Amino acid sequence: MTPVVMPTYARADLAFERGEGSYLFTADGRRFLDFAAGVAVNALGHCHPRLVAALQEQAGKLWHTSNLYRVSGQERVAAKLVAHSFAETVFFCNSGAEALECCIKMARRYHYVGGNPERYRVICAEGAFHGRTLATVAAGGQKKHMEGFAPAMDGFDHVPYGNLNALRDAITPETAAILVEPVQGEGGIVPAEPEYLRRLRTAADEFGLLLIFDEVQTGMGRTGTLFAHERAGITPDIMGIAKGLGGGFPVGACLATEQAAKGMTAGTHGSTFGGNPLAMAAAEAVIDVMLEPDFMARVEHAATSLRAKVDGLAARFPSVIEEVRGIGLMIGIKPRILNTELVAKLAANGLLTVGAGDNVVRLLPPLIIGESEIEEAVGILSSTFDEVAKSS
Ligand SMILES: Cc1ncc(COP(=O)(O)O)c(C=O)c1O
Repeated sequence: MTPVVMPTYARADLAFERGEGSYLFTADGRRFLDFAAGVAVNALGHCHPRLVAALQEQAGKLWHTSNLYRVSGQERVAAKLVAHSFAETVFFCNSGAEALECCIKMARRYHYVGGNPERYRVICAEGAFHGRTLATVAAGGQKKHMEGFAPAMDGFDHVPYGNLNALRDAITPETAAILVEPVQGEGGIVPAEPEYLRRLRTAADEFGLLLIFDEVQTGMGRTGTLFAHERAGITPDIMGIAKGLGGGFPVGACLATEQAAKGMTAGTHGSTFGGNPLAMAAAEAVIDVMLEPDFMARVEHAATSLRAKVDGLAARFPSVIEEVRGIGLMIGIKPRILNTELVAKLAANGLLTVGAGDNVVRLLPPLIIGESEIEEAVGILSSTFDEVAKSS
């Protein structure tokens, strides 16, 4: 029989009823430590009191008006994002893929209004992931995401991630922009060298290209700074964010400099739901919590502690773990068994994690984790690695 929910996901046979902080609970009372965080979305954990209060208050006032009218929440959230980033202007949408669609459209439009409509191509990285719409699967360039959906949208050229010479060689008079993730997430937690990001900035300036960072997964504190590119000491012209921004409420945003966004005039782009009052209430609460003094320092502290302990496990279980990599609370463990097998074993032992490309298991805990959750996670990782070592 055809499943009533279209079977596009390989789901684990788990259904959660309730969440609290870093924990999820099934209806039959089983408790899981959530180091998946809805794939890097629940940045403040589950049912954070500030988020619950903000949404409850907004739900009793106003849910949706469309973008036919001013939305005061958008104005407040945009002002906060602008105050704490390179950006001067923000477009709100509902997901990461939509945020990237806006980034790509903006790059084309920038050159169009600049009198260079032939400049429409975007140089992307191999191993990238930018979403599942037709444009974003073409930008990601992964065969497995494009198969059966031909013709692929034109306008994307792919070069090896981290290879500056290959990137510079790919620049043509038709190139409009460079698009990369500062840390490839779905690709298997592959951080870019800060120097590579700096040189992308230089190349973009030299050839009049727009530099776009996809910070859908890395943004909003995930790597220990509000945005991952901050570590490289440079800024992009355009950036897509989503995931952590709503803390679980679907919201995305495209941030840009005034110059990069010069073509985005009334009527050029839009979204019925984008930035509605409920989404903005959630995003504003997330940002307010993240901007509190010490929030990022605590993320850094948790990240350093978790990473040291995971590195320790990798040293203890070399027959199970090939490599550990990542930045902040975006940690990739590359096991010697199938990542899907390790994710299932960890879940059976009470720890939720996420698979990624290159046979990696991602640890993406809520940013609010403390030492006790770290100890518990490391305990489960350790006993699971021990099981694997003994059974192989
Ligand atoms: C870097 C990156 N970009 C874009 C997306 C797409 O986001 P969404 O699934 O919200 O459309 C993702 C999702 O995993 C992502 O990790």
